[in-house]
Amino acid sequence: MKRIPIAASKPYEAIITEGFNDLFAEVNRVFGGEKIAVITDDNTHRLFYGDVKAALKGYEVVNVNIAAGEKSKSVGTYAEILSALASAKLKRGDCVLTLGGGVVGDVGGFAASTYMRGVTYIQCPTTLLADVDSSVGGKTAIDFPEGKNLAGTFYQPSLVYINTECLKTLPPREIDCGMGEIVKYAFLDKTVSLADVKELNYQTLIEKSIKIKADIVCKDEFDKGVRALLNLGHTIGHAIEVASGFTLSHGACVAKGIDAIIDISTDFYGLSEEKTNEMKALLRAYPFDLDIDCDKEKIAEKIALDKKAEKGGVKFILLKGVGSPIAETLPVEEAIRCWRR
Ligand SMILES: NC(=O)c1ccc[n+]([C@@H]2O[C@H](COP(=O)([O-])OP(=O)(O)OC[C@H]3O[C@@H](n4cnc5c(N)ncnc54)[C@H](O)[C@@H]3O)[C@@H](O)[C@H]2O)c1
Repeated sequence: MKRIPIAASKPYEAIITEGFNDLFAEVNRVFGGEKIAVITDDNTHRLFYGDVKAALKGYEVVNVNIAAGEKSKSVGTYAEILSALASAKLKRGDCVLTLGGGVVGDVGGFAASTYMRGVTYIQCPTTLLADVDSSVGGKTAIDFPEGKNLAGTFYQPSLVYINTECLKTLPPREIDCGMGEIVKYAFLDKTVSLADVKELNYQTLIEKSIKIKADIVCKDEFDKGVRALLNLGHTIGHAIEVASGFTLSHGACVAKGIDAIIDISTDFYGLSEEKTNEMKALLRAYPFDLDIDCDKEKIAEKIALDKKAEKGGVKFILLKGVGSPIAETLPVEEAIRCWRR
């Protein structure tokens, strides 16, 4: 078992282990109450709820199940969760445990942070993306037709319990989504190496990734500065994802976004061929499908529409090399011109 301390304003630990055997003891360290509401989606309910309920023997466990998928990050599902918590007579001293990917974590976390003005909140991530990204850092959210993650809170969990055995049932597309974020960390900080990415030892990748994310988040918990580095590849990646009508995986789009950032950075900073090749090799250490046909004009339009342009353009995270990210505000047309060259 690995313990990673997260030194946020409310400190907590991320535990990386195999199985749910240690769950009771870990929950017991941070939660002294009696009742735990376990939020699941249809898939995580079917796959893991029985084991989690059994592991939490001794607590009064109730289940709130939601439909799987991004559509559940809605105000409707959020309200349903709050009603279910109230019907189960959850009190202020009780606990919400989210068992699932980023969707369950985001909407369940938002419910935990607002139900009775906030109850104890524990994350049990079950996707690779949630292991390395959404479960750590305290951002909760729901989407609106007007925009993704439009409402949410900063609310740190009391514990993140990662059971890597959950990854065994995860479809390849979802593995790609997590790998998109892991490769992003490899570009932000050299502690995740090309060899690590090739080796695909999830325990190691998760541990190193969480440490990088925690380090950045703890410097800027409320997203006013350096936390923006975590957007590497995401501005262009998200525009590609939207342009594809969400047929492409988030992971492939982030990878393609990073590929574009390498091209833009090479032109913008006049990087050496050696530096560019080192970055391209790192991106190709995992077999992302980078053969995505991008209409760069359309991508530029989407970015300009989606992103609140600051004075002087949009904030892109560029790269001066592996491990050297830098925030740069550029007019979208300038970024796309560098990408095209
Ligand atoms: N809060 C944050 O800081 C943060 C960071 C990154 C992403 N996010 C959010 O996370 C969400 C995406 O999360 P995600 O990629 O985990 O998607 P997800 O939660 O939709 O999970 C993907 C699919 O995998 C299924 N699933 C979950 N665990 C499984 C398992 N072990 N085996 C088989 N199937 C399993 C789910 O039911 C779902 O169908 C987005 O809404 C995004 O905005 C939040």
